[in-house]
Amino acid sequence: MRLSLAVILAVGFVAPAFALESNVKTLKVERGLTPEGQKCVECHAEKHPGIISDWTASRHGHVGVSCIDCHSVDKGSPMAAQNCPGVKGTDIYVTTMVTPATCGRCHAKEVEEFSKSGHFRGSLQYNVPEGRNYKSMTALIEKHEGQGMDKYKRASEMAGCMQCHGSKISMGADKRPTQESWPAAGVGTIWPDGTVGNCVVCHTRHRFNIAEARKPAACASCHLGPDHPDIEIFENSKHGHIYNAEGTKWNFDSAPDAWEPGDYRAPTCAVCHMSGIGALTSTHNISERLKWNLWAKESTVRNSQDPLSPLTGDGAEGRKKMTMVCSNCHSSLHTENFFKQADLNVELYNEGYYQPAEAMRKELADKKLLKDNPWDDEFQIVYYHLWHHEGRRMRQGAVMNGPDYAHWHGVFELQQDLYKLKSIYNKRMKTGAIED
Ligand code: HEC
Ligand code: HEC
Ligand code: HEC
Ligand code: HEC
Ligand code: HEC
Ligand code: HEC
Ligand code: HEC
Ligand code: HEC
Repeated sequence: MRLSLAVILAVGFVAPAFALESNVKTLKVERGLTPEGQKCVECHAEKHPGIISDWTASRHGHVGVSCIDCHSVDKGSPMAAQNCPGVKGTDIYVTTMVTPATCGRCHAKEVEEFSKSGHFRGSLQYNVPEGRNYKSMTALIEKHEGQGMDKYKRASEMAGCMQCHGSKISMGADKRPTQESWPAAGVGTIWPDGTVGNCVVCHTRHRFNIAEARKPAACASCHLGPDHPDIEIFENSKHGHIYNAEGTKWNFDSAPDAWEPGDYRAPTCAVCHMSGIGALTSTHNISERLKWNLWAKESTVRNSQDPLSPLTGDGAEGRKKMTMVCSNCHSSLHTENFFKQADLNVELYNEGYYQPAEAMRKELADKKLLKDNPWDDEFQIVYYHLWHHEGRRMRQGAVMNGPDYAHWHGVFELQQDLYKLKSIYNKRMKTGAIED
């Protein structure tokens, strides 16, 4: 038996005003587990003590949301299976896959917000849906990284892209997800029931812990490295300094919309991008508080309602909301001046670096002075690093107070890149040939 939505609604999610009085919500569902639900727990306690101990310590364990509520599916579901020996021959069908449709039965608001966010397209932007015109990255994955060998065609995607972005899950004849597509820890998984998203990337199974998701570590497993060093930028910022000095003593357990300054002294990723603070309500749409598109080749102010658009969000509104976050701890002068400094750096990147690099690239392309293989052409390699690595570091460092990334790993390297591009460009224009 599933816990019906009606039961959840009747019990209700605690209102913020009430929740302020306690750290942990004291909601109780007045029912025990059904006999079938109990059996799952008892038997799996022997097989998977790790899963059971996580679940027992979770809010789901406390309120009686159990294995069967998340893992059972209708017989008609494309994922319906009886590979679990405990349900074989019964009328219970279970699957290892738990999609946002399942979470959405009880957490509709979170799923709806997530579905409007840039996270939603995490895997759709390279498992390109019909009618969309994204640049395919298959050549990089198969031909270059997989060295064109059939056996290794998707190896780099399995160990890389899809563990951050998500995969399009395919099913084997045994009604289990295939080795090519699962496990995939990415944020935008496309499931066999057609739903999109992965709710366990920030609050991992089977604890589903709100406190875990509020800590920078929850974002750091994906938002790091040379092309989007957000955790490194955070560490570099004054906010990260304070979190590292005393964050272990902060209170991460307050109810949503009741987690406020005082529980923490400086913002984490979640505070700025997701959590309720002051007059702002909590959101699972991480694009909602953004002005620019900072990962793109050229940054533009966001202006689209479509989560598949690279410009998803409302830039003016986004900046207003982000400013409301800062206003809880900073004066308006501090925040306004900070964003003027940051925006100036985004504009410098656009006008000082991207636009001249792109103008040279276009001219070389027109004159057939670019190699067909972009990954074996010095001009195109430097051009790629200019926007995808150095350029993102400069922009993201500037907006999140990471001076080492804005400067030494950012604009300092950009000016070097641009001189290099100019030198290759001049040589090719002069000789009319691509150098060896
Ligand atoms: C709130 C929903 C929820 C509940 C309750 C829940 N699970 Fe899960 N479980 C998930 C999700 C989400 C995954 C990851 C699915 C995926 O990635 O395909 C998962 C994965 C699993 C897996 C595969 C994990 C692995 O690492 O191999 C097993 C086995 C499993 N759950 C068993 C259980 C058992 C037993 C219980 C009851 C104690 C339980 N689950 C309760 C959501 C839930
Ligand atoms: C009598 C013991 C027993 C009972 C009862 C039982 N299970 Fe299992 N279950 C297992 C074993 C054993 C496995 C296989 C584990 C493995 O392959 O590592 C399994 C596997 C699973 C899997 C993974 C399926 C897959 O394709 O790999 C899920 C999900 C699952 N069980 C959920 C449930 C749920 C939900 C219930 C209650 C409705 C339940 N189990 C009842 C023993 C049991
Ligand atoms: C059958 C209903 C049901 C399903 C399905 C369900 N949940 Fe829950 N969930 C609840 C209830 C009830 C609570 C407790 C609410 C409370 O404490 O106020 C909860 C609490 C939570 C919390 C907050 C935990 C905390 O530390 O306060 C998270 C996060 C969460 N669920 C995530 C998920 C995810 C992700 C899924 C899908 C994989 C899921 N839930 C599926 C009913 C459900
Ligand atoms: C370590 C995790 C990680 C890996 C591995 C990874 N990405 Fe990303 N990717 C990200 C993050 C995080 C962003 C968002 C950066 C931002 O918003 O500034 C991103 C952004 C992108 C974007 C731009 C966003 C868009 O909607 O167009 C594309 C395209 C992309 N990645 C494709 C890939 C492909 C293809 C691979 C594998 C060849 C890959 N990524 C590997 C984490 C990863
Ligand atoms: C990018 C990280 C991230 C992802 C992905 C994510 N969550 Fe959350 N979730 C959080 C954070 C952070 C909080 C705490 C928000 C706050 O402080 O207000 C939270 C809180 C929650 C809560 C508690 C809210 C309440 O009112 O008790 C639920 C339920 C929840 N998430 C469900 C989901 C579901 C369902 C999905 C998948 C659609 C999901 N989450 C995906 C980070 C995430
Ligand atoms: C499992 C990996 C993963 C985790 C964990 C994760 N993200 Fe992301 N995030 C991504 C990927 C991949 C993208 C790029 C999606 C795309 O555009 O295709 C992204 C994009 C974003 C964006 C830009 C969205 C846009 O519209 O351009 C923001 C902001 C963001 N993430 C914030 C967060 C925050 C804050 C957390 C933690 C609370 C977090 N992410 C956790 C993988 C992750
Ligand atoms: C002090 C608040 C704050 C904190 C803390 C913070 N961010 Fe940001 N983040 C911002 C602002 C402001 C922007 C730029 C928004 C704009 O104007 O477009 C931004 C931009 C981003 C982007 C770029 C989106 C794009 O367009 O490419 C990503 C990704 C991101 N943040 C992830 C994170 C992660 C992950 C963490 C934690 C490691 C984090 N942020 C911590 C405020 C913050
Ligand atoms: C929960 C409170 C809190 C929030 C919210 C917050 N900050 Fe801070 N911020 C601090 C504290 C505390 C410091 C450290 C002050 C010091 O160095 O003495 C700090 C330092 C800074 C600094 C370093 C310069 C300085 O004056 O020390 C900048 C820049 C900054 N914050 C910008 C922002 C921006 C932009 C936002 C919103 C996107 C924001 N902060 C949100 C608490 C906060």
